[in-house]
Amino acid sequence: MKITYLGHASLSIEAHGKVIIVDPYISGNELAKDVNIDKLEADYILITHAHEDHILDVEAIAKRTGATVISNFEIVSYFEKKGIDGHPMNIGGTWQFEFGKIHMVNALHSSSFPDGSYGGNAAGFVLETKHHKIYIAGDTSLTYDMRLIPRLIGELDLAVLPIGDNFTMGIKSAIKASDFLECKKILGYHYDTFGYIEIDKIKAITKFAKKRKELNLLPIGDSLKF
Ligand code: NI
Ligand code: MN
Repeated sequence: MKITYLGHASLSIEAHGKVIIVDPYISGNELAKDVNIDKLEADYILITHAHEDHILDVEAIAKRTGATVISNFEIVSYFEKKGIDGHPMNIGGTWQFEFGKIHMVNALHSSSFPDGSYGGNAAGFVLETKHHKIYIAGDTSLTYDMRLIPRLIGELDLAVLPIGDNFTMGIKSAIKASDFLECKKILGYHYDTFGYIEIDKIKAITKFAKKRKELNLLPIGDSLKF
């Protein structure tokens, strides 16, 4: 499995020969100006919630690649009206896709489309392939429900956690989340994109390290491999 950071909360994941784009917000992100969305491959697009900083480039990528959107029922219905294929899920559900399983899990956040219409409930996902399990938190507060994830799904190889604070968890909560998740390897996201979520990266890495946890903060375009 290969996970590439595309800036903000956007990822590209290669698993079992398929490419899964997560929450594409690239054309609106000055920091991601070197990522060419016209060149991104996608078989699936996984969407945690309907906020603009998670769906901005879904339509362009899906229409060019024919990718299938995986998200909550409301978001999938919204994109189906634009002629995009989707697989609707809801929190608590698991589905076996060709690349592995997706478990849709709780997030504590809001979810409305840029025009204010209802975007269902915000969610997170666990991607479970034959050999690996990674948790993608989406935008969320720390929740006690995170404790259920390793108990129900098993040991995680990686937790992708928002760390920018203000709209989501900050560093302190993310460290506690990694305790609840029983996972020592973290990929931080949802930071530095705009003023409210700028962080001191060295300080953040040091704080995680003091709790014997590895916080990875990737330059945009860089990857983690398992
Ligand atoms: Ni959001
Ligand atoms: Mn967001």
